[in-house]
Amino acid sequence: MKKLKIAILLIGLTPLLVHCKKDDDTTEEPIDDTSTYSSIQTRIWDQQCIGCHISGSSFATQSDLILTAGSSYDQLVNRAPNNAAALEDGLELVGTDGLESLYKSFLWEKINANDLEHFYSDHPFYGAIMPLGGEFLTNGELEFIRQWIINGAPEEGVVADLSLLEDESRYEASGFEALPPPEQGYQFHLGPFDVKANEDRELFYYEPLDNTEEIFINQVEISMAPGSHHFIFYTFDESLPTTITPEDRVIRDLYDESGNEIFLNLLPLQYHIFVSGTQWPTMNYHFPEGVALRLPANTGLDLNSHYANGSNEVIQGEVYGNLHTVPASEVVHVAENLQLNNQNLFLPAGQVTTVERTYWFNEKRYIFQLFSHAHEHMTDFRVYVQGGDRDGELVYISLDWEHPPILELDPPLEINQGEGLRLEVTYDNYEDRDLGFGLRSTDEMMILFGAYYTD
Ligand code: HEC
Repeated sequence: MKKLKIAILLIGLTPLLVHCKKDDDTTEEPIDDTSTYSSIQTRIWDQQCIGCHISGSSFATQSDLILTAGSSYDQLVNRAPNNAAALEDGLELVGTDGLESLYKSFLWEKINANDLEHFYSDHPFYGAIMPLGGEFLTNGELEFIRQWIINGAPEEGVVADLSLLEDESRYEASGFEALPPPEQGYQFHLGPFDVKANEDRELFYYEPLDNTEEIFINQVEISMAPGSHHFIFYTFDESLPTTITPEDRVIRDLYDESGNEIFLNLLPLQYHIFVSGTQWPTMNYHFPEGVALRLPANTGLDLNSHYANGSNEVIQGEVYGNLHTVPASEVVHVAENLQLNNQNLFLPAGQVTTVERTYWFNEKRYIFQLFSHAHEHMTDFRVYVQGGDRDGELVYISLDWEHPPILELDPPLEINQGEGLRLEVTYDNYEDRDLGFGLRSTDEMMILFGAYYTD
């Protein structure tokens, strides 16, 4: 009886097992590294995808996607997705516009396991992460494909380093775990707290550090229980009035029981200085070698957690965060916050408006992180280099006001003295009133956040 059950189980699994052949039992297709795309074909598609995405297979019919050599490039590049929700969202499988195409790529959405949680919670109709039923692609394979896309997805030529494939780590869905406290630094723990069925909960919590001297942070780790939308560490600007300084270690909700914003809890937010944060369930971010963030003596961190519960049951939010510190003697460059905030916004009612603003830098800056911030009328946030050799080069794009990509630049983007960044942001003001800069989500914003150091 037992044997029979196992046999049935095996039969049930066979299609998946066949499709998830690993390198060692595939000998038919030789590895071809003459171009980045031929490496992707022979090292990834041939090994992990063509069991299903092959002419005649029902999976290929269902997805209308063939990934075998000779067909796959035309099947992927400049082609609309078969998935209706993705098509409606304006995605293509892979475009050739580089960075811009990455965020419009349905292929990328389908394989980027590190963003799994966002994928399933925000895109219930995008189907499953690929390879279906198999192990996720390794971080090396993902980075290799990402490089290929941001370099214009060429059919010929080498645009990504093969050594990237040596990184065989992969996202593990096993989930949430308490972080071990850092050897040197601070640990923060928020929750567990309830998030009601089908509701959002966004809260803040101020934790004083009781540090008598300034400290330098070179690594940030964050781990969140499932359902999190984002987590951010902030400090406060010195100009924060004492009358609105939050109490220590008290949860401050952004919305009351009936879903209205709690105005008193909104006030301190405009004095926030971004320290670090993520939308992924786990993050382990190292600042570049020799670079650290400086926090003054007697400071504290305002912890900001946002959960979105799309299920019919109460879930528990919980977050661990570690800030690793290094002695001042090990710091070569102090990381500075980039915050280009255009408050001069006028968006007439019922119109689509593109706002441009250039910021010039009076010293050479090495920018290693960028992300945009705007509210729900923003449709397109682009950042270009202004001046110098790279004038007009697109360096950042977000098509999603709610989930702007946090772009890590390694090596950093070098902007010389006298050059700058040009922000070009498009808003669709579908309201019947004009909009301007403001803190409430019903107003608008145009901010480029990031981090950099100087010589
Ligand atoms: C076990 C079978 C199987 C394997 C292996 C598999 N896929 Fe799929 N794939 C499917 C099925 C079924 C669909 C349609 C349903 C869905 O999207 O979840 C699909 C859909 C897709 C789509 C969306 C196509 C569209 O236009 O809607 C992409 C992109 C994709 N797969 C890429 C890949 C890649 C890349 C690999 C290998 C890394 C892979 N798949 C491995 C079965 C598979």
